[in-house]
Amino acid sequence: MKIMKIYPANFIKGEVFLPGDKSISHRTALIASLAEGKSEIEGFATSKDCQSTLHCLENLGVIVERQENKLLINGIKNKSFTAPNKVLDAGNSGSTMRMLSGILAGQPFTSIITGDQSLRRRPMKRIVTPLRQMGANIEATNDFPPLHITGGKLQAIKYDMPVASAQVKSCILFAGLFAEGATTVIEPTITRNHTELMLKEFGANIKTQSNSITISNSQLKSCHYHVPGDISSAAFFIVAATMLPNSELLLRSVGINSTRRAIIDVLLSLGANIKFINSKLQHGEEVSDLLISSSNLVSNDQNRVLQGDIIANIIDEIPILSVLATQIEGGLTIRGAGELRVKESDRIRSVVDNLRLMGAEVEEYPDGLAINGKTELKGCSLDSADDHRIAMSFAIAGLIAKGETEIINSECVDISFPGFFRKLANVTNS
Ligand code: S3P
Repeated sequence: MKIMKIYPANFIKGEVFLPGDKSISHRTALIASLAEGKSEIEGFATSKDCQSTLHCLENLGVIVERQENKLLINGIKNKSFTAPNKVLDAGNSGSTMRMLSGILAGQPFTSIITGDQSLRRRPMKRIVTPLRQMGANIEATNDFPPLHITGGKLQAIKYDMPVASAQVKSCILFAGLFAEGATTVIEPTITRNHTELMLKEFGANIKTQSNSITISNSQLKSCHYHVPGDISSAAFFIVAATMLPNSELLLRSVGINSTRRAIIDVLLSLGANIKFINSKLQHGEEVSDLLISSSNLVSNDQNRVLQGDIIANIIDEIPILSVLATQIEGGLTIRGAGELRVKESDRIRSVVDNLRLMGAEVEEYPDGLAINGKTELKGCSLDSADDHRIAMSFAIAGLIAKGETEIINSECVDISFPGFFRKLANVTNS
């Protein structure tokens, strides 16, 4: 168990290169493993979660070559994976378990996939139900991991998703690659669309019409793919540079796909100073450098309450947004975000508990929280709940707090952002 100490900062200045986008990296590995030929992936995330995906694929017989800042994946084309001779371990990664299950459902053998303590508590009914409808045989006690998946040829389905989840959508689309005919997924609200964009880039026959996505028999071809920087990791630095006076920070090559950039749009509407530089389109994904400087944020009746369709697009940024809310004149309220209770930790609980310990005024709801703004935070000892986004959010809170802040179990940041504390220290002036 590591404890990281954080001290108040005066300002933040400099340039940061972020790790490759975690969501996109998982997908490159999964999709490339099914394609014909060898794919080259540049900027693949160093995060532990994405390494879990690679290890699972290697246990399924996929050959992965690791080069400096580049990954080569030998696709299996029309062949199936090799039956694993051990239990597949998705570690802490919900994305690995949920998305890979869609592919396992199409394999003519039984595999068992499990994860760490946190992942074994996360709901899998959301993927088990549609995969069973497609014909996969899945055994799981109360629909929690481990999952025993016996796959084979699948039936195409039209599936109305009860939860807005990009992981579930991707799982079904991947299973659709092994089904005869067209598989359609209908989303209750639009979630990140990296899977759709990437499948198209790898040659799949996939169409999106507003909230309905259809995939039919597809031959995937290898690709040379460049993964952009992770906007969810960028969010910690964006918030730090916004809150600390006299700050200016340049973040390089950040993925700003319209289904992921809502955090920036929310901040802009509150008065943040964020400029897009060198924006370009890469494999259908928008990428840009971001220049952030300090600003005083104010909420009003139009933007104080975040709820509805936007929630799915800011879901991973709500912990750091909640920290920022303590410095927004007028504060923020977040509702309709009950999904946060079944993430790596119960993120509503973790955020509410830690903000209260720091002296913030917070109200907790079953599906969200309300934070009063312009509160001086005080440094204290905080539990990360072994959740990477909680650890990083409260490290940033520590920069603006009075006195010393301790983050207990800080090593969990490696799940999405190895090197986070070093990169933060490099640009922080205290
Ligand atoms: C992800 C989707 C989101 C997000 C997670 C990554 C993805 O989860 O919270 O960190 O890469 O598809 P849900 O699909 O459960 O909302």
